[in-house]
Amino acid sequence: MNDKKHTILVVDDNPNNLRVLCDLLEKQGYRTRPEISGQGALDNVSKINPDLILLDIRMPDIDGYQVCENLKRNNKVSDIPVIFISAASEMSDIMRGFDVGGVDYITKPFEAKIVLLRVKNHLNLYATKRELIEANSALKDVQENLEETVSRKTWALSQSQKRLRELSCHIQRVREEEKRNIAKEVHDELGATLTALNFDIHWLQCGLTDAPSDIRDKVDDMSDLVKKAADSCRRIVTELRPSILDDLGLVAALDWQADDFAKRNEIPCKFTSNVDEIDIASDQAIVIFRIFQEALTNIVKHAKACNVDVIFLKTDRGVSLQVVDDGVGISNSLQLSVGDNDNLVSFDSKRESSIDPTIMIGTYGIRGMFERALSVGGTLNVESYSGSAGTRVVLFIPLEREAVRNV
Ligand SMILES: Nc1ncnc2c1ncn2[C@@H]1O[C@H](COP(=O)(O)OP(=O)(O)O)[C@@H](O)[C@H]1O
Ligand SMILES: [Mg+2]
Repeated sequence: MNDKKHTILVVDDNPNNLRVLCDLLEKQGYRTRPEISGQGALDNVSKINPDLILLDIRMPDIDGYQVCENLKRNNKVSDIPVIFISAASEMSDIMRGFDVGGVDYITKPFEAKIVLLRVKNHLNLYATKRELIEANSALKDVQENLEETVSRKTWALSQSQKRLRELSCHIQRVREEEKRNIAKEVHDELGATLTALNFDIHWLQCGLTDAPSDIRDKVDDMSDLVKKAADSCRRIVTELRPSILDDLGLVAALDWQADDFAKRNEIPCKFTSNVDEIDIASDQAIVIFRIFQEALTNIVKHAKACNVDVIFLKTDRGVSLQVVDDGVGISNSLQLSVGDNDNLVSFDSKRESSIDPTIMIGTYGIRGMFERALSVGGTLNVESYSGSAGTRVVLFIPLEREAVRNV
């Protein structure tokens, strides 16, 4: 801090005092501005813009207290420190000086050293205060900028998440549509050709009763191959798009899928539903069906389960599907959940304090289930506690009241 640049306004109606004070301060390198009256000080203070004011209390017309009160009312100069100079050393005078906004006082006759020390101290204090104010305002600017940047980035991020989600929904829809088309092609073209081939082979077999046995054997082999091809064809069509979903509806399709799962994997799979059928939009039906399939696939791949319970419920609010297995559970004891108004998949550890973020890697099956649920405004909860309690997948899809109807 360079004291020599500081400007001090000295106000005293006694020219002698004024001169002595100014001389003293000038000698120390301060720039001084003498004023002989309170009015003069008030008129010129804005022009002078001093760093400190030495103000005599007893003056004709406007005294030091009034000058100080005036200054404190003027925002432009109110924070300039005022040191009172007075012959009065009465406690009440000193207190009044502080009351009207003075920062210090010097009694006359003054001691040069004390004057200089107090001036220096208050200039330092004032400079520090100004630096603090500036730093504070700079900090505020930085904070405001930061808040604005964060909110802009958050918005951009949420927009990009929204677009990604829309894209993901679109891709799912296109995939389902493609699967449906391929299933139709395979069924109509390949299936029909194989059926025709089967008839032809049967015709051949009837006409070849007297043919050599090796020829008849060859034709029988052909018949077996064609039957196998027809079976594969049916399986592929079903995997691409189970016709039961379109023909008999969601509840029947879920029931059939549970049954098929039990037969194929020799794991009892009990399906319970409180409705026989439900009128539901086809995109919601396919979401429920695909999530069910994915949950069952996970059970086969990972659970080592002995039993699976599937509960489908229709309530006033919507439909829920619970797939519960009694297998080994998902390691890391994680609960994965996502809310319908929550853009982020959140991972909460329920039983253990630490969350292993690597669980995020490679959970595309479960993430796909979340995305599918979200695409129709639903929620999905995957609860699993390692040990022996198994895994519970709970899907909930809200339905418009009028859309939920028993058929
Ligand atoms: N029913 C379940 N029982 C035990 N572990 C499961 C079950 N479902 C999922 N998991 C665990 O969660 C992980 C993530 O599943 P998922 O996202 O479907 O990926 P993937 O099946 O391709 O490994 C699996 O690797 C498995 O460790
Ligand atoms: Mg999986």
